[in-house]
Amino acid sequence: MRKPVIAGNWKLYKTKNEALALIEELAPLVKGVDNVEIVVAPVFTVLPSLIGAVSGTGINLAGQDVFWEDEGAFTGEISPRMLMDAGASYVIIGHSERRQYFGETDATVNKKVKSALKGALVPIMCIGETLESREAGETFKVLEGQLRGGLEGLTATQFAPVIIAYEPVWAIGTGKTASDEQAQEAHAFIRGVLADLYGKQVADKTRVLYGGSVKPENIKGLMGCADIDGALVGGASLKGASFASIVRYGE
Ligand code: PGA
Repeated sequence: MRKPVIAGNWKLYKTKNEALALIEELAPLVKGVDNVEIVVAPVFTVLPSLIGAVSGTGINLAGQDVFWEDEGAFTGEISPRMLMDAGASYVIIGHSERRQYFGETDATVNKKVKSALKGALVPIMCIGETLESREAGETFKVLEGQLRGGLEGLTATQFAPVIIAYEPVWAIGTGKTASDEQAQEAHAFIRGVLADLYGKQVADKTRVLYGGSVKPENIKGLMGCADIDGALVGGASLKGASFASIVRYGE
């Protein structure tokens, strides 16, 4: 009932030619996959040059961030319309690296999610606790705050296309994945908060992705969990073979 999403977050990697080479490597390896939504998020500048390369491959393009205004005097920013124009149909919002290094807050995440939806981009809204919060027993409190803050003011209908990515900060780029049990526990909690906000029907349809050191070796276990509907993959998405084997987790 929930189509899985496997999304690659390329972060600050890959120039145009490197990105094209990666798509050329990846495309044949994921050919024929129609039971998984495949998304890759390169840097903004590379998006337009990948449009041709991904066409007909089933691979969709995403931005790694977006601003909330359509246009104006906002040096350095990019609007939803511009992202769409560059070839993106999804956008990652509120990634922990943006929260950590670029001052992203639940309030800015909320504005970005709203503007992405208005621009018909599918937001992948990231949430996740730090190690400190987990050790203090505050994981659920943090997740609930990020969900309620990031989604504030959205009706159930407006919320419906949103994808949530649960990424425990301590698992990102550390090689330390959450155990299947830890991830499932957080995902079930997230779905519960969504049910409280938008009703069970909407919550049951929402894709909740796991992110944090996802690799070909651990994707099967994660995807076996009832409330995990896909993955947001960083490091392992930078090589065609490893990303393709994550996409093909079910085979
Ligand atoms: P990682 O990154 O897979 O390299 O841990 C995940 C992410 O930051 O989205």
